[in-house]
Amino acid sequence: MERLDLVSPDLYLDGVPREYFRWLRDNDPVAWHEERDGPGYWVLTRFDDVVSANRNWELYSNSFKGSSIEEARSEEELVARRRMFVNQDPPEHTRYRKLVSAAFTPGQIRRMVPLIEQTCARLVDRLLDGETHDFVPIAEELSFQMVATLFGVPESDWPHLIEITRVMADFQDPEVNPGLAPRPEMQRDIASYAQELISSVRRSPENHDGVVVELVQSELTDDEGTHTLTDAEIISFFPAVLVGGLSTTAHAMTEMVNSWVREPNIFDAWSGGECPTSFVEEFLRWRGPVMSFRRTATADHVLRGRQISRGEKVILSYASANHDERHFEMPEMFDPNRELLDHVAFGGGGPHFCIGAQLARMDLKLVFGQLLQRIGTIEAAGEPQRLRANQFAGWLHYPVRVTPR
Ligand code: HEM
Repeated sequence: MERLDLVSPDLYLDGVPREYFRWLRDNDPVAWHEERDGPGYWVLTRFDDVVSANRNWELYSNSFKGSSIEEARSEEELVARRRMFVNQDPPEHTRYRKLVSAAFTPGQIRRMVPLIEQTCARLVDRLLDGETHDFVPIAEELSFQMVATLFGVPESDWPHLIEITRVMADFQDPEVNPGLAPRPEMQRDIASYAQELISSVRRSPENHDGVVVELVQSELTDDEGTHTLTDAEIISFFPAVLVGGLSTTAHAMTEMVNSWVREPNIFDAWSGGECPTSFVEEFLRWRGPVMSFRRTATADHVLRGRQISRGEKVILSYASANHDERHFEMPEMFDPNRELLDHVAFGGGGPHFCIGAQLARMDLKLVFGQLLQRIGTIEAAGEPQRLRANQFAGWLHYPVRVTPR
């Protein structure tokens, strides 16, 4: 089969190329692809291979060349990327990740439930006013509010910060980032915002909440000893967590709306009722928003007969692994009753497994629940527009009109 350009964001304007992935899984599960503006890459498409590579961080590194599909344009850019823990390997990664993971424990997430419920109800009220609404900003508002609250970003700053975060997350889309130029000023904007917030927290911690207060008081122990976190170290958490949290959950919500619009009967069995946990898990398997992450091989090795060399780019296709017929029976079917629901929508269980998974699950359970319980019909009110992006499957605009149940 002719190779598709899997790193081209344009490819995904037509959606995830599921037939191509199926062909790769069956015929070339460790597939080399040439790249127009890059060194070329391997794509792992089978469930077992994606899980193994996720766990084998010594062989498949995040730090070597970062976890984004695009190559860094300079050594300086690579060094900057490595300040974010998503672009580090253990043991450095473990030390940094531990500092923020306290914000995302099941107990912390449970405490957020009343806020999430209120926000979901308010947003669905807004949808039910009989007018046409773009669902994308509604979903983004909800996702951002939860991450920002946990992190400790004051509400008055949300509109400004959501703008910056959006450009950083959706930088490959010309409507969000005209000219598709690199936008280092966005990094600077978020850094200067973070700097102001950190200074304010250091001056008067009692006026602030959230993980940022803990970070200011945290200590880090490394080879050089123990020190409290510097401003630069704290700043590096902002883009990682805010970008990771804004669009992913929002894309999943919009994709649920899209599935409902396209195949109105698909969710009939659940409409009017509670949203079971298995519904969310199966939805993430079936239409999870994170298509892939990148690793770099740290040593020459052979995988399924293919020779992978040190320094080569390896793309882990979560979108394909979640539809692997070797692991999931009839994977194209949406079936929350399936026995095995161990999908890789949040990663394959390695050190980089999504830190926001519990929060995302709770957001989705409550928002899907509100939609299923309160909405009678939903239709597209205009042409929906997919996001131009090569790692996230999402929507730029999704105008809808809904009627109540
Ligand atoms: C439906 C929603 C979400 C999906 C599908 C998703 C998916 C993922 C995936 C696939 C990874 C990479 C795993 C790996 O390479 O091993 C990841 C990592 C990450 N996610 Fe999420 N995510 C979601 C929501 C969130 C939220 C709400 C947050 C923020 C609070 C978040 C923050 C992060 C961070 C910081 C990382 C990097 C973790 C690390 O390197 O240790 N994500 N996510």
